[in-house]
Amino acid sequence: MSAFGTVFMPKMAISWFDGTSWSEAEMVSSDSIQLHPGAHVLHYSSTCFEGLKAFRHEDGSTKIFRMDRNIVRFAQSSRLLALPEIDPDATAKMITDVVAHFADEVPAAPGSMYIRPTHIGTEAAIGKAAAPSTSSCQYVLLSPVGDYFAGGDACLRLLIEDDGMRCAAHMGMVKSGGNYASALQPIMNARAEFQADQVLFAPGGDVQETGAANFLLIDGDEIITKALDESFLHGVTRDSILTIARDLGMKVSERQLSVDELVERAAKPGCEAALSGTAAVLAPVGTLIYQGKELKVGSGSVGPTTVKLRQTLNDIQWGKAEDKHGWLTTV
Ligand code: COI
Repeated sequence: MSAFGTVFMPKMAISWFDGTSWSEAEMVSSDSIQLHPGAHVLHYSSTCFEGLKAFRHEDGSTKIFRMDRNIVRFAQSSRLLALPEIDPDATAKMITDVVAHFADEVPAAPGSMYIRPTHIGTEAAIGKAAAPSTSSCQYVLLSPVGDYFAGGDACLRLLIEDDGMRCAAHMGMVKSGGNYASALQPIMNARAEFQADQVLFAPGGDVQETGAANFLLIDGDEIITKALDESFLHGVTRDSILTIARDLGMKVSERQLSVDELVERAAKPGCEAALSGTAAVLAPVGTLIYQGKELKVGSGSVGPTTVKLRQTLNDIQWGKAEDKHGWLTTV
C-alpha cells in the first residue's frame, strides 16, 4: 500500500470566495490549483483543513463518519484564522458530492477514504501581513488510505518534550498547517536522536498532545486526557473514543495530567496509553522516553482496553455495531 495520503482521486470539489460570495461548487481536476504567487496563504499561512473518513459497508453503502462535527471545527478554524466565513451546508454538500462521485473507489475494510477539506486565503496582497485575505478557496480532496501508523498492534515510542511547545499556546485548537510545520523540528530531532515515532508535547509538565494526534492514558477503567482548552486540537476521534468509553461504563477524566503523574501511572503493569485521531484511529503507545530514560507503558505492548475501544469505534464506522449517536451520514 502507498504511504498514507499520497494517492488522490483525480477530481476534487472546489468553491471560491470572491470577497462577497461563494461560487457554485465544481468538480475539477485534483492535480493542480492556480494561485497567484503572492497569495495570502503562501506568505501568511492563512490555511486550515479537516480530516475525516468515508467507510464502505457490507451492504455496499458508503457512510461518512462525524461529518457535521468536522465541519463545525472547520468553520471555527476558519474564523480563528480570520478567513472568510464558510457556509456549513455548502461544505457538507461539497463533501458528500465528491464522496458520492467516487463511492466505487472507497476501499473495503480495513481501508477507508480519507477526506481532506481545505480552506486557503487567496488574495494576492503581500502587504497584508497584519490583515486578512478577503478572498479564499475551499476544496475537498479524497485519498484512499490504510493505516497511518504501523497499524494494528504495533506500539509507538513517544519522546516527552516538557520544554518546547507544539504551536502557539492560543492556536492549538485550530487545525492549521502552520501548527504542523512548527512541530516538525522537534519531531525530526526525536526521530534522529531517540528513534521516537512522535513527540508528546507537555510544556511546563502539562501533557497536551503529539504532533498529529491526541493523547489518552488508560489506567484500569479510567481514561485520563487533557480537558478541552485552546492549547490543543479538539479531536473528533478523541470525543468519539471518550463517548464510547462512557458507553462501556468507563470513567472519563478530562483534566490536567502532569508528566510526573503520567510517568508514575505508566509504570503500573496494567496501564495503557494511545494516540487518537482520524488518521491514527487509536494507536497504542508502548514506550515513553523522558529525560533520556525509556519507560514502558504497562507491559509495553497493546492492552485489552485499547483494543476494545478501537474495535468498538471501527464496528460503528463499518456498520457492524449500532450507530446510536447518529455519527454516520449516508452518501
Ligand atoms: C488527521 O488525523 O486527520 C490529521 O489531520 C493528522 C494528519 C497527520 C494526517
